[in-house]
Amino acid sequence: MKPRRIILAGGSGFLGQVLARHFLARGYEVAVLTRRPTSVVLRVREVAWDGETLGPWAQELENAQAVINLAGRSVNCRYHERNRKVILESRINPTRVLGAAINLCATPPLVWLNSSTATIYRHTFGMAWDEAGEIGGTPAAKDEFSVQVAQAWEQTFAAAPTSRTRKVNLRSAMVLGPARNSVFPVLRRLVRLGLGGRMASGRQFVSWIHHQDFSRAIEWLIEHGNQEGTFNLAAPNAVTNEEMMRTLREIHRMPIGLPASLWMLEAGAFLLRTETELIIKSRRVIPGRLMAAGFDFRFSHLREALEDLCGNAITDISR
Ligand SMILES: NC(=O)c1ccc[n+]([C@@H]2O[C@H](COP(=O)([O-])OP(=O)(O)OC[C@H]3O[C@@H](n4cnc5c(N)ncnc54)[C@H](OP(=O)(O)O)[C@@H]3O)[C@@H](O)[C@H]2O)c1
Repeated sequence: MKPRRIILAGGSGFLGQVLARHFLARGYEVAVLTRRPTSVVLRVREVAWDGETLGPWAQELENAQAVINLAGRSVNCRYHERNRKVILESRINPTRVLGAAINLCATPPLVWLNSSTATIYRHTFGMAWDEAGEIGGTPAAKDEFSVQVAQAWEQTFAAAPTSRTRKVNLRSAMVLGPARNSVFPVLRRLVRLGLGGRMASGRQFVSWIHHQDFSRAIEWLIEHGNQEGTFNLAAPNAVTNEEMMRTLREIHRMPIGLPASLWMLEAGAFLLRTETELIIKSRRVIPGRLMAAGFDFRFSHLREALEDLCGNAITDISR
């Protein structure tokens, strides 16, 4: 019997590598669509595409078990006009062209999972949002641009004419994993330098998911052929920024953790060419549909997730 095949569009980055490892370990064949194919990385076949136009890459989708679209320029940058355009187009164009390619398949993939983000939900200090939560931007959270991008991304996905393929929209929270090109090592370094205090008020919620649960949830969504539509990919227990930083300090037995006020974060973000929205927005999201369906999270609480990650060496999976 031929192995089941998964196509990771934009799969050369952090989450693509996380998913490639997960599915390879389960005997799947994995192909990555990338603008810069190298050779075989991690037994993954890299296939050239431009994320905009149809080409020979579209053949890869024939008869695939699943297509998972992860393409998108990193949001860890300044949101000036040029970057805004690239951030938006690098999500819309790959989604649109994947829809066109799937529609042309003789035997289309069984399921198409497309990335979105938990940032789409309204900044809140109140109750947690499930998939029916309020969507929208808030000037104080500086998230209006990100919410607009997420909405356009989801609309493009919803409009794609792929009636023979099940669709799943992934509203993912921050994925915690032991890779250099992700957030967790950055937080850990701050803690080790004694800079791991609360950020801004520290009251803002952080939604997160351990990389193993992220991969397991995606596998579960692929295998459950009756599940479609939007799913929040987040652990059931969001924490405040203050609690997250305190937990990391405790795990590292670091008694000092200098807090960073809002103006310090603004200055730091300017110098590091990033945006404070990534820190100050209060993201309180629960995986309502996964919980209702009985999905079993391996890491429901942040402490267990961080202890697990701190016990693992940071791996360099960048090329
Ligand atoms: N990491 C998280 O915690 C998280 C949470 C929520 C949502 N997300 C979303 O999930 C997706 C994957 O996240 P990630 O952390 O794996 O990101 P990543 O490491 O930055 O990887 C994204 C990939 O997108 C591809 N890409 C960039 N610009 C593109 C363009 N113009 N056209 C086509 N492909 C392009 C790149 O592949 P090539 O250069 O090889 O073509 C890159 O490897 C992103 O869209 C992100 O917004 C991530």
